[in-house]
Amino acid sequence: MAIILGIETSCDETAAAVVNNRYILSNVVASQVLAHQPYGGVVPEVASRCHLETINLVIEEALNKAGLTWAELDGIGVTCAPGLVGSLLIGVMAAKTLALVHHKPLIGVHHLEGHIYASYLANPGLEPPFLCLLVSGGHTSLIHVQACGKYEILGQTRDDAAGEAFDKVARLLQLGYPGGPAMDRAAKEGNPHAFVLPEGNVSTPEGKIHPYDTSFSGLKTAMARLITKLQADKGSLPTADLAASFQATVARALTKRVIKAALDRGLGHIVIGGGVAANSELRRQLMAATTAHGLDVTFPPLALCTDNAAMIAAAGAEHYQNNQVSGVNLATHSRLAL
Ligand code: KG4
Ligand code: ZN
Repeated sequence: MAIILGIETSCDETAAAVVNNRYILSNVVASQVLAHQPYGGVVPEVASRCHLETINLVIEEALNKAGLTWAELDGIGVTCAPGLVGSLLIGVMAAKTLALVHHKPLIGVHHLEGHIYASYLANPGLEPPFLCLLVSGGHTSLIHVQACGKYEILGQTRDDAAGEAFDKVARLLQLGYPGGPAMDRAAKEGNPHAFVLPEGNVSTPEGKIHPYDTSFSGLKTAMARLITKLQADKGSLPTADLAASFQATVARALTKRVIKAALDRGLGHIVIGGGVAANSELRRQLMAATTAHGLDVTFPPLALCTDNAAMIAAAGAEHYQNNQVSGVNLATHSRLAL
């Protein structure tokens, strides 16, 4: 048993949570979406300031909701990489200070490992090996989870992350920020077969199609060209059809790679994480494909797919139990491989 306070401030959510291994005792997230909305995207300086203003309150609320005192905690897990460096620093400084004041071990957690651990919170009986598709605003990674701390990245995006592509195309269609949920809503009224778009294949040095890597910048450019042409030819845009066709193309590209990786590696269980896991068409295509191939799939609830501190605490709990703790000189990194 390990009772761990988790702190997550890598991007635009200020979050703190308490878990007992794979069980959530509290999970508090202060979203900054309204602060960034006027700019149409995350502004790093604004993010840092918002973290600074809310971090202490969020931590206090997480402890209160868990009904625990500092003395009852075994340790503090904190996201130390990758992310916006100013944002990471605020979480890490808070964690270091609290670790020193309350004499608790400090455990630095990689943000992507946190997303993997959301799978265990959603499904406490889950054991490796399994395949994790992580699709967020910053990442598109296909990860073979072999054991705690043993992760093989099978595929990733060569350019834009899936969520970033949703956000950029939503901006072209003037659907607002954040773009992913707006695209999903707009697509409900549209025809997913209205436009044929490039699926984002990537070549290997031998000139073959890479089985697991993706590229979404070509798809985004194709959408930009199509939008300009339709606007010029017709004077208006079939927004719902464009959103539905884009969404179906992204979902198809991801689903194909997930199924191929699961079959190639003999992995019977697939878990999806990151904000794009909320996408209704991705869920529909993955459900259909996994059922057809007899594979199990877990979609964690949305609150665990998007950035949260419970996933960081859960990863921290396992590292703590494996005696993998960090010193007070724990560093932050804006980029760091898993
Ligand atoms: O995991 P997340 O909350 O934050 C990080 O990027 O780490 O993911 C946010 C991303 C955004 O790009 C957002 O547009 C996208 O997830 N997203 C969606 C949907 N809901 C959120 N994309 C497509 N369809 C959705 N329903
Ligand atoms: Zn994330």
